[in-house]
Amino acid sequence: MLTQYHLLAIILTLVLFGLVYSLYRKGQQRKAVILHQVMRVSFLFVLATGILLVPMMPFSILRGGKLLLGIISMGMIEIFLMHLNKGDLTKFTTVSLMIVLFATIMIGLFLPLGIYLRFW
Ligand code: HEM
Repeated sequence: MLTQYHLLAIILTLVLFGLVYSLYRKGQQRKAVILHQVMRVSFLFVLATGILLVPMMPFSILRGGKLLLGIISMGMIEIFLMHLNKGDLTKFTTVSLMIVLFATIMIGLFLPLGIYLRFW
């Protein structure tokens, strides 16, 4: 149940991130700043649901890594948007954000709670 809420909060955050990105790109600063704040509130839901998921299973290195990557992902989204807003976004920032986000989502989906992907 809680994993569904975590997933819902992540989807909401990623949709808002996409909207904020396109608004900053189009130069619609006012709308972008408002949605950026809403996105930060949705970060709190991701963080809260993520923290509540931790005691539901025995601790493992992969789960610890997932926790860290989750927090790093949110920090990197903020860094990415800050550089985009300033107009000095580098390929390094974009690519590292994509890698960290992908790794976080994949590790989350391979871990046993909620939607559980298995290819073997
Ligand atoms: C943008 C940031 C994040 C992304 C993209 C993300 C992604 C995911 C995904 C896709 C799942 C699988 C959910 C399911 O199957 O229903 C998951 C599970 C989980 N996440 Fe996150 N997450 C993020 C942030 C966090 C944070 C900040 C924490 C902790 C403070 C956290 C802790 C967990 C835990 C403990 C699980 C359950 C793992 C298990 O099955 O044992 N996540 N996450």
